[in-house]
Amino acid sequence: EVYGPRRRNSAGLDLSVRADRARLEASVVVLDAVTLSAGPLIDGKVVAGGAPLPVIAPANDRKVVGAVSEAQAPQIDEAFRLARAAQPAWDQAGGPARAQVLRAMADALETNIDRLIAILAREAGKTLSDGIAEVREAVDFCRYYATLAEDQFGEAQVLKGPVGETNSLRLAGRGVFVCISPWNFPLAIFTGQIAAALAAGNAVLAKPAEQTPLIASEAVKLYHAAGLDPRLLALLPGRGETVGAALVAHEGLDGVAFTGGTDTAWRINQTLAARQGPIVPFIAETGGLNGMFVDTTAQREQVIDDVIVSAFGSAGQRCSALRLLFLPEDTADHIIDGLKGAMDALVLGDPAKAVTDVGPVIDAEAKEALVAHQARLAKDAKILHALAAPAGGTFFAPVLAEIPSADFLEREVFGPILHVVRYKPERLEQVAGALAARRYGLTLGVHSRIERFAADVQRLVPAGNAYVNRSMTGAVVGVQPFGGEGLSGTGPKAGGPHALLRFAVERAVSVNI
Ligand code: NAD
Ligand code: ALA
Repeated sequence: EVYGPRRRNSAGLDLSVRADRARLEASVVVLDAVTLSAGPLIDGKVVAGGAPLPVIAPANDRKVVGAVSEAQAPQIDEAFRLARAAQPAWDQAGGPARAQVLRAMADALETNIDRLIAILAREAGKTLSDGIAEVREAVDFCRYYATLAEDQFGEAQVLKGPVGETNSLRLAGRGVFVCISPWNFPLAIFTGQIAAALAAGNAVLAKPAEQTPLIASEAVKLYHAAGLDPRLLALLPGRGETVGAALVAHEGLDGVAFTGGTDTAWRINQTLAARQGPIVPFIAETGGLNGMFVDTTAQREQVIDDVIVSAFGSAGQRCSALRLLFLPEDTADHIIDGLKGAMDALVLGDPAKAVTDVGPVIDAEAKEALVAHQARLAKDAKILHALAAPAGGTFFAPVLAEIPSADFLEREVFGPILHVVRYKPERLEQVAGALAARRYGLTLGVHSRIERFAADVQRLVPAGNAYVNRSMTGAVVGVQPFGGEGLSGTGPKAGGPHALLRFAVERAVSVNI
């Protein structure tokens, strides 16, 4: 029972409440007056790493939010050594004891929600509503995995066997997990990966994305303050090709949990495959090329609302975001007109203002990739509508384009660009087949009043999370277990009942009495 008296999802804050709104905006002003810093955090202490590098606000390229210094090779070795020493006692303490620490962490996140949202707004360019959702998700991961730790890592399960023999099965931690996370959910995914690994009885070495070390540092400090032995969780900030690569090549690891791009997952997988010694699990949650299929029975206003949220919410920087909208020829123009109107109503700008719908993209590199893709669309396809981007930061304004088929897109385009494909209903199989042929499998949307159509689309385009007649982002922990298949990930799903199993070993004991 994970959604009842033993566990409730976090209530978060409500931006329509004037006091909450004002307090959050004020907390960003407070944050703007200070400069944060992050570095390797080992045994609960920040140690000197490489030369500090500035962390710049995506929404304002003159605003330095803080500085970060990269973890060095001896610090990585030391973090592994401490984690290895502390892990057996943590494992033996059992799921119920670990659940207490995770629940204390959830409470600490809720207590610090204003400050965390302010850091998310400045460091990651998250709007206040995205910041609220992000803190809620981090809290939910901790409480959900606490419940799983109690249920799955408590008493051994007794199995039926021959008379005179007792048989039991129990789960145990694997050892030291390396957790590597992306910048687009720099608190929720960062905290959630760690919570899952800890819940299962592991120690963790965490590497945040290079763009978002400051919020990660806050989260690690909160874990320690919540009562976690600091040796069990180290923060090792730095670049993927240096610190990330050193971590996954280290002989001390017992598993890797990774969320990020598919290309990076391939690279890590190769490193792990080349290891001599124990074969370790690789949990990878990666990118998507997510489609929504609309038929002529769909309710137009609902389609427009759900498309705008799914494609342009969070500036399109969700792995779950809608990238390809399939519209039937008969109603396509009518829906496209509505989408243009709804795009014009979006407020772009400072993510720290409650009115803002779309903030910046994460950095100049991300913006350049989107600008280049837009130029390709203008040359080889058709731009239907494009908004104007604010100046002063890495803003990229939403774009609606039309492409001939899913074949036009080789890979994920990470930002607020929505591609429309018109289709003749009698060609649904071929049109959907072209999307399935890309071999991603993360999210899928359907808008239709006909159950058969929704079932056909799900059969034609396999995806980890399908959403019918609603938006296709914002999976809720314990309600919509999240994760993809194919090029989109290995599973198990985050926030689902099987989430902890690959973080654990299974041990069977048979006793002849
Ligand atoms: P990324 O792959 O560039 O980086 C992710 C992490 O991997 C970062 O911490 C990075 O430093 C590290 N890294 C990079 N190279 C490495 C290497 N050689 N060895 C070890 N670590 C390395 O991804 P990103 O740009 O941070 O995040 C965006 C991507 O994440 C998108 O593709 C998005 O779809 C995906 N994502 C997926 C999910 C999901 O649940 N499926 C959720 C969020 C984001
Ligand atoms: N879990 C996130 C979502 O569903 C990525 O949007």
